[in-house]
Amino acid sequence: MTEMATLILDGKRYELPLFTGTEGERAIDITNLRDQTGCVAYDPSYSNVGSCRSAITFIDGEHGVLRFRGIPIEQFERETPNFVEVAYLIIFGRLPTPAELQDFSRRMTEYAHIHEAMKYHFEAFPITAPPMAILSAMINSLSCFYPELFQLEDKEQFESAAARLLSKVRTIAAYAYRSSLGLPFIASHSNLRYCANFLHMMFSMPYELYRADPVIEDALNLVLLLHADHGQNCSTATVRLVGSSRANLFASCAAGVCALWGPLHGGANKAVIEMLQKIHDKEHSADEVLGMAKDRDTTFRLPGFGHRVYKHYDPRAAILKRACDRLLDKLGRQDPLLQIAQELEGKALNDPFFVDRGLYPNVDFYSGIILRAIGIPLNMFTVMFALGRLPGWIAQWRELHDDPSSTICRPRQIYVGQSRRDYLPLEERIDPSPDDGPDSSPQLSGIKRSE
Ligand code: ACO
Repeated sequence: MTEMATLILDGKRYELPLFTGTEGERAIDITNLRDQTGCVAYDPSYSNVGSCRSAITFIDGEHGVLRFRGIPIEQFERETPNFVEVAYLIIFGRLPTPAELQDFSRRMTEYAHIHEAMKYHFEAFPITAPPMAILSAMINSLSCFYPELFQLEDKEQFESAAARLLSKVRTIAAYAYRSSLGLPFIASHSNLRYCANFLHMMFSMPYELYRADPVIEDALNLVLLLHADHGQNCSTATVRLVGSSRANLFASCAAGVCALWGPLHGGANKAVIEMLQKIHDKEHSADEVLGMAKDRDTTFRLPGFGHRVYKHYDPRAAILKRACDRLLDKLGRQDPLLQIAQELEGKALNDPFFVDRGLYPNVDFYSGIILRAIGIPLNMFTVMFALGRLPGWIAQWRELHDDPSSTICRPRQIYVGQSRRDYLPLEERIDPSPDDGPDSSPQLSGIKRSE
């Protein structure tokens, strides 16, 4: 029998069905709330809203658990599968057999080039263009060059589109970097694995091939695979929202890149290093940075700390912290920013402000130290996040696309603006007083509660 939750509104009782996910998460189904009660649910940043049912990633933020298709991410640290294998798992729901992996990798090799005409697009961007802007624009441009992939009705078409996107976005990312330096584009190399091939396209010269140190290749592989999916985060929710209008896979992922760019989301990996560098350069002390983050009168937040879902150590951050130490150790290098990051973390985790709010390092806190050691330039950090997150966006888009019950996402709003008023002809208008105009709405800063 379906469990029900009871809502009492204006003295009337409403029964709302409850359902439970495979890991025991409970949800009240309010799909018919407005029809039944005339009210909508209000939750501006969706903290309490399950926007879909998904079988891709399980997160338990209270206990620091993250599983991809059921597999705990700690197992990827131990077994270190290839990023392509994890991408396959995320997108198709199970680990590939050796033959499937070989076939998928072969397709990716085949699709690595971009249309010659697309290369001219890079020339039109100013040299200072942020690579995230280029990435988003170029992913969207793929829609112009491969329109046959708009209709992804059968398995073969979808598999081909997924391989194409994963492979071409890697090429686009590398070319965005090279065009910013005025360097010639380097074609992908068919014998190299995903990460080594990316590093080759980034760093090889026509006169000298870049050969990735396996230690560096493995570190990049780990960073990318740990980012592969993460439930309904801001960029993934964007991909689903755009995809819900039946926008194609490329357009939806291009929108995901834009959402990821912000410093409260994927842009935090760059912000962390900028902050650590400032501490290193003695522009601010660690205590001053923590003081600014605690100051409720500023909007500054400690980059790489805190998470909407994790109220415990982000398990990806724990793995990346260990990976930083291993990588620098194997390379025989030191990075003063790692030491500063560790000190900052220690101070924050002993500070009641952070402890009381459950603020721990998130995935972005240590990933930048690894990317620096690999030689990735700072302005490419969030692009690396996008490369890693791509399998998740593809899988989530497909899950939505394959769900016959999915409809266009269209939230409602609670209107708090002016009541009905009349249009005034231009000559009758006088200068507005500070209390007039669209900003005078009394309720924008907080919804009026019922008595
Ligand atoms: N520094 C200082 N204070 C913080 C931080 C932070 N990094 N994060 C949260 N807080 C504060 C909030 O202001 C709030 O304080 P209050 O109770 O006094 O109002 C309290 O902690 C609780 O905040 P949450 O509700 O848990 O935070 P929210 O879910 O709104 O935001 C977010 C999550 C955006 C990630 C936030 O923690 C933040 O801005 N972090 C820094 C940016 C960052 O690292 N982003 C990457 C996140 S991971 C990812 O997207 C890949």
